[in-house]
Amino acid sequence: MDSMRVFSLWASLVCFLSIISYAGGQNKIFTVTDYGAVADGKTDSSQGFLNAWKGACATDGGVVAVPLGTFFVSGATFEDYWILFDEIDRLTIFGNGTFYGNGESAWPHNQCDKTLGCKKPPTSIKFHNVRNSVVRGINSVNSKMFHLNLHKCENVLLKNVDIIAPVDSPNTDGIHIGKSNGIEITASRISTGDDCISIGDGSTNINITSVFCGPGQGISIGSLGKYNNEEDVVGITVKNCTFSDTDNGLRVKTWAPSSMPVTVSTFTDHNVEDAVCPLAWRVRSWDQRCEVHKREGDFSNRSCSGCSMQQGQAMPGHTVRGA
Ligand SMILES: *[C@@H]1O[C@H](CO)[C@@H](O)[C@H](O)[C@H]1NC(C)=O
Ligand SMILES: *[C@@H]1O[C@H](CO)[C@@H](O)[C@H](O)[C@H]1NC(C)=O
Ligand SMILES: *[C@@H]1O[C@H](CO)[C@@H](O)[C@H](O)[C@H]1NC(C)=O
Ligand SMILES: *[C@@H]1O[C@H](CO)[C@@H](O)[C@H](O)[C@H]1NC(C)=O
Repeated sequence: MDSMRVFSLWASLVCFLSIISYAGGQNKIFTVTDYGAVADGKTDSSQGFLNAWKGACATDGGVVAVPLGTFFVSGATFEDYWILFDEIDRLTIFGNGTFYGNGESAWPHNQCDKTLGCKKPPTSIKFHNVRNSVVRGINSVNSKMFHLNLHKCENVLLKNVDIIAPVDSPNTDGIHIGKSNGIEITASRISTGDDCISIGDGSTNINITSVFCGPGQGISIGSLGKYNNEEDVVGITVKNCTFSDTDNGLRVKTWAPSSMPVTVSTFTDHNVEDAVCPLAWRVRSWDQRCEVHKREGDFSNRSCSGCSMQQGQAMPGHTVRGA
């Protein structure tokens, strides 16, 4: 059943997944079980979570605490997300809880690779207009679509995030970033069916460091250039990441011929254990394998500083327009 979404949490502390909004002042604690949430894995606890959240937001620095247990939290049926954090300044999410998306019930029905304009399954956790915030130590397992989606966010740190879905699960991007500025992803581990991290148009100043990707498709910029009003992607730094059993390290996907310039500021210090293409530029048919990525001198030491790419070649020191 599509509405079955389980929010399960694993840890040993009472407050092991806490959501703090409006940091500052007294951090009064609002425990979801005091607001009607039941840790039995089957009672719909969404209202309990929402009521605890409302209580916390009404104070100056409230903490929503989710105790040990498995909670079933139903989603907004007609939206593109399961859980949404919307219009929040100074949000902190931490504590080793697991968002279990129950994607195995949706993957067999996902025809989005074959059908245009299909209804996409929901992203597990969407952040929209979230600013000056930290997401630390959470786990996302088996999302129906993307695990995490940051849209129009500013100054957000994601640290110690652990993302898992099977290698053959469709469209399960680990972290998607779009129209956001100042995002740092670090010390995280992403094993999923689609992109490890995908970066859409209008994204600027994105630092990805010490992330383990694999299996999956690696880090992707794009697809870009499909629509006329897209904004540039600027200042992407990918550093000290490991790509193990991925299709790519970093790849740029563009729709020819109207693509925009993409500047990859840094792609360096990598451990590319087993990626088909450490660096790749794909135009439209991004399923085909690239050939030129392993050219001598380009990535023999698997790094590239201040480089840009065009169609499968890395060009250190140049900014190159899409095809
Ligand atoms: C989360 O897990 C890490 C590593 O296992 C541990 O050090 C930390 O204390 C845990 N945090 C909480 C709030 O449970
Ligand atoms: C990314 O790294 C650069 C260089 O270390 C730093 O100047 C910038 O503030 C960082 N941006 C984010 C969003 O962490
Ligand atoms: C690079 O990443 C590894 C984990 O893959 C980590 O142990 C190490 O501290 C990182 N190095 C730096 C300089 O961040
Ligand atoms: C290896 O990377 C360093 C730092 O980016 C660069 O200066 C050097 O030329 C590269 N070596 C080769 C053989 O590409």
